This record gives sequence, C-alpha cells and structure tokens, in this order.
Amino acid sequence: MDAAAQPYDAIVLGAGAAGMMCALTAGQRGLRVLLIDHGDAPGRKILISGGGRCNFTNLHTAPDRYLSANPHFAKSALGRYSPQDFLTLIERHGIAWHEKTLGQLFCDGSARQIVDLLMQECAEAGVTLLLGHPVAAIAQRDGLFHVTRNGIDLAARALVLATGGPAIPKLGATGFAYDVARQFGLSVVQPRPALVPFTLGAEEALFQSLSGVATEVEVHWQKTRFREAALFTHKGLSGPAMLQISSYWQHRTPIAVDFAPDAAPGWLVEHKQRQPRGAVRRVLASGLPARLAEVLAERLGLDGELGTITDKRLRAAEAQLARWPFQPNGTEGFAKAEVTAGGIATRELSSRTMMATRVPGLYAIGECVDVTGWLGGYNFQWAWASGWAAGQAL
Ligand code: FDA
Repeated sequence: MDAAAQPYDAIVLGAGAAGMMCALTAGQRGLRVLLIDHGDAPGRKILISGGGRCNFTNLHTAPDRYLSANPHFAKSALGRYSPQDFLTLIERHGIAWHEKTLGQLFCDGSARQIVDLLMQECAEAGVTLLLGHPVAAIAQRDGLFHVTRNGIDLAARALVLATGGPAIPKLGATGFAYDVARQFGLSVVQPRPALVPFTLGAEEALFQSLSGVATEVEVHWQKTRFREAALFTHKGLSGPAMLQISSYWQHRTPIAVDFAPDAAPGWLVEHKQRQPRGAVRRVLASGLPARLAEVLAERLGLDGELGTITDKRLRAAEAQLARWPFQPNGTEGFAKAEVTAGGIATRELSSRTMMATRVPGLYAIGECVDVTGWLGGYNFQWAWASGWAAGQAL
C-alpha cells in the first residue's frame, strides 16, 4: 500500500539522538513510525560528538544539571530513562565503553557505533527512514498531521518535533522546530548559544597572546561555579570550565576566574616568608603554565623578589588571583556552540509524555525543548530520556 494512503501512527521529524530513540521506542511498541531528516545521513551530531567517541551519557545525571525556565520539567523523563538504561542498550550491542572523568561515559571505539546501534534498533522495530529532502509544509486537518516533503503528502495521527536547535548550522542544524511550534501557537523561550567559547575585547589582548595555554580553574558567574580546565584562545576563553559557565552567562556581565583554586588563604605571604628571594612569576609558575604566570604577574604589576613586596600587596594579589574578572564581549555564537539553550517552552508540554497540552498529537523532544544540559553527556541523556518518554506515550 502507498505510504501516503495509510496514515502512520507517528511521523518523527529529525533523525538525531532524540528522534531515533523516540522512533525505535514507538516502533518496538508496534506503531507504524516514519522518521524523516533533511540530511543525507542520520545522527550527524552524534558522529562528531565527544571528539569522535561520543560522550553518550553521564553517571551523575540529575535534574539540577539542566537549565530550563522550569527546573522541575526534566525530572519525570530523566527519572524514567536513566544512564543505566542506555548503558544496558550499549552493552546489549557489545559496545565497549569507559568512564573518562566526572561520570562521563565514552565509546572505546567510535561514535559511529552509537549511530549504528540506533539504526539497527530502528530497523528491527520496523521504522521507515526517509532522508535527504526538506519538509516543505506541515498542516493539521481531519485529525491528522500532514507533512509535505518532496511533493508528497505524508500523514500521521501524531507528529514529533525532534529537529534540535540551530547550534552548528553547517551540520544541518536549524530552528525549524521553533517555526512549527509557533505555527501551532506554542511559545518559544528565546534560543541562545550555550556551551560556547567566550570572546574578549582588545583590552584583554595580553590574554589573547596566551592562545593554546590551558589550566585548571574555578570559574564563577554570580552563584554558579565550575571547576574544570580553561583554555585561552586567540579570540578569548574556551575549555570545559568556560563552556559550562557560558550556558548561564548573560551579556554585559563579568565572570570571575580563580587561578589558584587549591591555594590556602595567605599562600603568597607564606611563600615570601619561606623564600623571600623567590620571583613572583616563579611562584605563580609552580601551579600555573609559565606563560600564564608571566602575564598574570605583569597584570598584577608584581615584578622582582617576593621579599621586596609588602604583605598587603601580596594579599591584594591573592584576592585578585582568586577572583580575576573577565568581561566577555560576547560568544562565538551558534557557529561554535555545542548546544542551544532556550527553545520550545516547557509550560506548553506534558513533562511525562512531551506532548503539547494544547495541541493533542504534537510532541517535542531533545534539544528543541527548553532543557539544556551541562557539558559531559548530559545533553545526549536528555535526548534519550525525552525521546523514550514520547516513544512510550505516542
Ligand atoms: P540533533 O541536532 O542531534 O538532531 C536533529 C536532527 O534534525 C538532525 O539530524 C538534523 O539534520 C535534523 N533536522 C534539522 N532541521 C530539519 C528540518 N528542517 N527538517 C528535517 N530534519 C531536520 N552532547 C553530549 O551529551 N555529549 C557529547 O559528547 C556531545 N558532543 C557534542 C559535540 C559537538 C561538536 C556538538 C555540536 C554537540 C555535542 N553534543 C554532545 C550535544 C548533542 O549533540 C545534542 O545535544 C544532541 O545531538 C541533541 O539531539 P537532538 O536529537 O535533539 O538534535
């Protein structure tokens, strides 16, 4: 029978992490599912994720590691599909994995294994996959959702938006889900780049000369802080600590960096007492990369031997090293963002099923929803969990 003649149970738009998980879950329940992507291949972000090894989940997944206008929204889905559930799937497919750091789980081999797993599960669940053509129009009539693609009308009783957000447009990322959501009267929380490097202005040129230097720091923005590596780039600041804080950061506000997060109070004065002839930059270089120590000493205006500097000045330097202010003038934007924060407003969706409460049959999952995880496998765990929740409910 012609696909157009008999409506599907569900059309899932977007063959990324969330869309594939949703499609295979619904397919396993015996539903007729059509999975559509405008790209030539499924799971393109999975393939490049985690440096090609896909950081597919995080053992410390908890709702407080997600940003959303409603911090409670992710609880139900994350509680019902856990990192262990995904791990069970991984192990059933014989995929070797390891914990890198901070609960982050990666494939030993390649991210390709995750895409192959999802595709195999979709195939076994009878999911039909259509790749390579943009969706021209979406409409709702006669109790069905109609998707026009390549001149053909495809119909289903349910439609799942799983087309992600606009981060990394060169990988086919779009804001399509927001357009469809708005078409159906759903509100969208202003999308913004997240997990994204900061840019610094010309006044910070001294730091830009450190491009390539990395060190462990504790970065603060208001009450939020992360302790991880920071990396100086020719445009500004990157590395896990900066990417994490960027998701919280608001324009025209400063961030503060603790360059000596393990140092005890009074450490510089103590150094002076022990080694009065030690040079400031040498002392700093005992815990920091030498080039960074030099720039910090220069900025602090502290040159020469410790013994020649008053305790008061050393205490002031300590305080500044513990709260070094940077005023980013922006970020590298969607072109370099790992994810999009904001998105389809959670107040429009059921947290149990991901269905739009005002538009029965319309679902939204994954990154297109206003739920954004920390760096470290949290975003894929949200994709799996929200995809599974919708796949169970369709
Ligand atoms: P996703 O973006 O994966 O999929 C959306 C799909 O919809 C795509 O296949 C796209 O082609 C398709 N689409 C878009 N517009 C369409 C349209 N108009 N019509 C039809 N199809 C359309 N997360 C993590 O947890 N661990 C990690 O290691 C990484 N690493 C990482 C590296 C890099 C470089 C990036 C950019 C991102 C990550 N992430 C990550 C984030 C992670 O990739 C992201 O959160 C998930 O892929 C989101 O899954 P979704 O299925 O929601 O969207």
